[in-house]
Amino acid sequence: MTAIPYSKDVASTIIAGHGARPEMLVQMLHEFIHHFEWIPEEAIRQLADELNLSRADVHGVVSFYHDFRTTPPGKRVIRICQAEACQAMGSAELVNHAESVLGMKMHESSEELTLEPVYCLGNCACSPSIMVDGDIFGRIDRQRFDEIVARREQRY
Ligand code: FES
Repeated sequence: MTAIPYSKDVASTIIAGHGARPEMLVQMLHEFIHHFEWIPEEAIRQLADELNLSRADVHGVVSFYHDFRTTPPGKRVIRICQAEACQAMGSAELVNHAESVLGMKMHESSEELTLEPVYCLGNCACSPSIMVDGDIFGRIDRQRFDEIVARREQRY
């Protein structure tokens, strides 16, 4: 996954597309993520200015939702589901394993890799689930996790 450089013009177009209405902030942020892959500080400033909100208001919304990452993603993004069904099937143990083999904590990013939680991938029947570069995998144990990550590494 490669973050697109931030563009004030593109951001303005997104904001205008939602009528520059402050109550549409969450939808705008989703679109920012869809387009840029992250929410830089510059975006928070621009949203606050154009929506007539304080930066603290925008920061508050950004930090409330796990989907709104504030650092650029690595080339590969691994998401481990932390919602109820996956928790019941051992996702916490999977997180420990992932952090140990990848050498990074959840919410951390390097140029190569981002490791982050996600809250339900719609694959609850096959818990625990993960998403790697947009593809969903279910019934993940330590061995399957290692295999999937190793297979993906060969692509890069
Ligand atoms: S709870 Fe993990 S996929 Fe739904």
